[in-house]
Amino acid sequence: MDTISSIRGPLGLMALFAILVLGACVDERVVFEERPLFDDPPAGAQGFVGYSDAEAKRTVCGACHVSQQARWSETAHADAWATLADSPNPRAFCEACHTVSERGNPVEGDAGWTATGNPRYYDVQCEACHGPGLDHVTVPDAPGSQPLATIGLGAAADQACADCHSGVHRPFAEEWAASSHGDMNPFPQGRPECQSCHEGKGALRAWGVKSIFSPQDQAELQAITCAVCHDPHDGRHDGQLRFALDAADLEQNLCMKCHNQRGEPDLGSITGGQFRGPHAPEGPLLLGTAGWHPPNLEFRPGEILGTHGSEANPRMCAGCHVTDFEMQDPETGDFVFRSTGHTFEAIPCVDDDGLPTGEADCGLTDRSFRSCTDGCHGSEAAARSALIVAEGRINDLAEDIGEMLDQIPDDQFGDPDRFTSADGSLFNMQLAQMPGSAAHNPFLIEALLRASMRQLEADYGEFVSIPETVSLERRLTPH
Ligand code: HEC
Ligand code: HEC
Ligand code: HEC
Ligand code: HEC
Ligand code: HEC
Ligand code: HEC
Ligand code: HEC
Ligand code: HEC
Repeated sequence: MDTISSIRGPLGLMALFAILVLGACVDERVVFEERPLFDDPPAGAQGFVGYSDAEAKRTVCGACHVSQQARWSETAHADAWATLADSPNPRAFCEACHTVSERGNPVEGDAGWTATGNPRYYDVQCEACHGPGLDHVTVPDAPGSQPLATIGLGAAADQACADCHSGVHRPFAEEWAASSHGDMNPFPQGRPECQSCHEGKGALRAWGVKSIFSPQDQAELQAITCAVCHDPHDGRHDGQLRFALDAADLEQNLCMKCHNQRGEPDLGSITGGQFRGPHAPEGPLLLGTAGWHPPNLEFRPGEILGTHGSEANPRMCAGCHVTDFEMQDPETGDFVFRSTGHTFEAIPCVDDDGLPTGEADCGLTDRSFRSCTDGCHGSEAAARSALIVAEGRINDLAEDIGEMLDQIPDDQFGDPDRFTSADGSLFNMQLAQMPGSAAHNPFLIEALLRASMRQLEADYGEFVSIPETVSLERRLTPH
C-alpha cells in the first residue's frame, strides 16, 4: 500500500484502522490528502494524469480513492487496452475509446492518449469519465476542483458513456434513447416519492449512492441513464450492473427494484372513489406474489411461478427484455446489424428481413420472438402461438369478470372503510389487462381471475353468477 501521510475528517483514525484490519472493506468516501507520487503529465495531455504505474494498473486517483481503484480494477474497462491490442485488427482510429482521451468527458481536441501516445493512458480509467484530474490531484479540496462525472446522457451525450458506447457496431446509446428508460417524464419534478423510480438521481439516492452530482446533473431531471443500471466502479455483477439479474427477490433484482410499485391493492390508496390499480407490477407478477388474494384462493402467494420466473429463465426480466444479437448477410457473411437489447422490448416490431422498425403498435405476427428461443422455446413460431393462446384465454376471462363487475352496485366499490371482493376483483382484472401480463405469469393471472369470480358469486350471488362458458375445474399446470 502507498504511504499514508494523513487522513482527513473526524473518521480518519477509524478509517485507517478499518483499512489495516479489513483491507478492501473501507468507507467509500475515505480519501487521503497528500499529493501522491507520479510523473508530471506530458505536454499536450490537457491535464490528464492517467496511471502512476501502468503495469500494475495503479491510477493516480486510486492512491487516495482506494476503494474505487480496487473495484474498478475488476471491471472490463480496466482491460480495454489489452482487448484492443489482442484483437485481430487493431488500428489507430480504434484507440481513443480504449484509452484515456478526449472521449467520454468534457475536453475538446486531442488529449491524453491521442495527444501523447503514452502508455500511462492505456485503458478506460477514472478520467475517461471524470475528465482531467491534475488540478484536483494537486489540491484535492480546492473548491470546484473535484472532477465530477456526469450521469446524464442528454445534450451532453459526448461527455459520457455514449461517446464510446455508440455507433452501428455498439448502438447502446441510440437504442437506449429510443426506449422509455431514455424518456424523461416531467412529473417527478419535486416529488421524491416518484423520483426513486422515475428519475436517475432519485433512483441512485434511493439505492444509497452518495456521490455529489455535477451542477448540470443537479439542474436537470435525469432519465434512467446508463449509470443508473450500470455501476461505473463495480464489476461484481455480470455486465457491471448495480444489482443482479438472477435474484428472485424484489429488493435484490435490478429490474424489480423499480418494476414493483403496486402489485397488490394498497388499502391506503383510494382516489376518486376507487382503490388505485396496479402500477409496475411486473416484478411481483413474475415471482407469483401479485394480485388481490381472495379468501378462497387455493394456492399460496409465490406458489404459482411458471417457467418465466423460475431458474429455467436465469436472467429473468432481461432474459426476454435485453437480447443482444448480430445479423450477417447470409451470402457474404458481412456485418449487417447489431442490436444491444437496450430498447428493452421483449418482442420488437420487425420488417420482413427481421430488422427492428422502431414502431410500437404492430400485431403479434409482425414481431420478433427471437428472445424466446435462446434455449427455451423451440422456435419463434412456437413462442408466438403460446403467447397468442395465453393472451386469448386471459382476455376472455378479463372480459367475463368485467361483465360481472358491471352488475354489482356502485356502492360496493371504493369505500375507504371496507375493501370488498368487488374492489379486489377489479384490481385483478386490471392486472390481467396490463401489457405483457400474459407473458409475465399467465398461470397466476388465470388462477386469480377464477378465484375472484368464485368470490364474487359467493358475495354477490343476488346480482351475478359465473358465466357458463368459464370452466373452474381446469387444472393449472405451469409447464
Ligand atoms: C491526493 C489525494 C487525491 C487524489 C490523488 C485524488 N483525489 Fe479525488 N478527492 C480527494 C479529496 C480529499 C476529496 C474530497 C474533497 C472535498 O471534500 O473538498 C476528493 C473528492 C473527489 C470527488 C468528489 C467525491 C464525492 O463525494 O462525490 C471525485 C469525483 C474525485 N475526488 C475524483 C477523483 C479523480 C477522478 C481523481 C484522479 C484524477 C482523484 N479524485 C484524485 C483526494 C484526492
Ligand atoms: C467509438 C468507440 C470505439 C471505437 C472507435 C472502437 N471501439 Fe472497441 N469497443 C468499444 C466499446 C464501447 C466496447 C464494449 C461494448 C461492446 O460490447 O460493444 C468495445 C469492445 C471491443 C472489443 C471486445 C468486444 C468484442 O466486440 O469482441 C474488441 C475486441 C474491440 N472493441 C476492438 C476494437 C477494434 C479492433 C476497433 C477498431 C477497428 C475498435 N474496437 C474501435 C468502443 C470502441
Ligand atoms: C465508466 C465511467 C467511470 C469510471 C471509469 C470511473 N468513474 Fe468514478 N464515477 C462515475 C460516475 C458516473 C459517478 C457518479 C455515480 C456513482 O457514484 O456511481 C462516479 C462517482 C465517483 C466518485 C464519487 C463517490 C462514489 O464512489 O460514488 C468518486 C470518488 C469516483 N467516482 C472516483 C473514481 C476513481 C478513482 C476512478 C478510477 C479508479 C473512477 N471513479 C472511475 C463514472 C466513472
Ligand atoms: C473512453 C470510452 C468509454 C467510456 C467513456 C465508457 N466506456 Fe464502457 N467500455 C469501453 C470499452 C472500450 C469497453 C470494452 C472493454 C473490454 O472488453 O476490454 C467497455 C465496456 C463496458 C461494459 C462491459 C462490461 C462487461 O462486463 O463486459 C459496460 C457495462 C460499460 N462499458 C458501461 C459503461 C458505462 C455505463 C459508461 C458511462 C458511465 C461507460 N461504459 C463509459 C469504453 C468506454
Ligand atoms: C417503485 C417504483 C415506482 C415508483 C415509486 C413510482 N413509479 Fe410510476 N412506474 C414505475 C415503473 C417501473 C413504470 C413503468 C412500468 C409499467 O408501466 O408497468 C411506471 C409507470 C408509471 C406511469 C405510466 C407510464 C408513463 O410514463 O406514462 C405513470 C403515469 C406513473 N408511473 C406515475 C407515477 C407517479 C406520479 C409516481 C409518484 C406518485 C410514481 N409513478 C411512482 C415505477 C414506479
Ligand atoms: C434499465 C437498465 C439498463 C440501462 C438504463 C442500461 N443498461 Fe446496459 N445492460 C443492462 C442489462 C440488463 C444488460 C445485460 C447484462 C447481462 O446480461 O449480463 C446490459 C448490458 C450492457 C453492456 C454489455 C455488457 C456485457 O456483459 O457484454 C454494455 C456495454 C452496456 N449495457 C452499456 C450500456 C450503456 C452505454 C447504457 C446507456 C446508453 C446502458 N447500458 C443502459 C441494463 C441497462
Ligand atoms: C431505476 C428504475 C428502473 C429500473 C432499474 C428499470 N426500470 Fe424499466 N422502467 C422504469 C420506468 C420509470 C419506466 C417508465 C418510463 C416512462 O414511461 O416514463 C420503465 C419502463 C420500462 C419498459 C417499457 C414500458 C413501456 O410502457 O413502454 C420496459 C419494457 C422496462 N422498463 C423493462 C425493464 C427491465 C427489463 C429492466 C431491468 C433490466 C428495467 N426495466 C429496469 C424504471 C426502471
Ligand atoms: C417470458 C418473457 C418475459 C419475461 C421474463 C418478462 N417479460 Fe415483460 N413482457 C414480455 C412480453 C412478451 C411483453 C409484451 C410486449 C408487448 O406487447 O409489446 C412484456 C411487456 C412488459 C412491459 C410493458 C411494455 C409495454 O410496452 O407497455 C413491461 C414494463 C415489462 N414487460 C417489464 C418486465 C419486467 C420488469 C420483467 C421482470 C420482472 C419482465 N417484464 C419479465 C415478456 C417478458
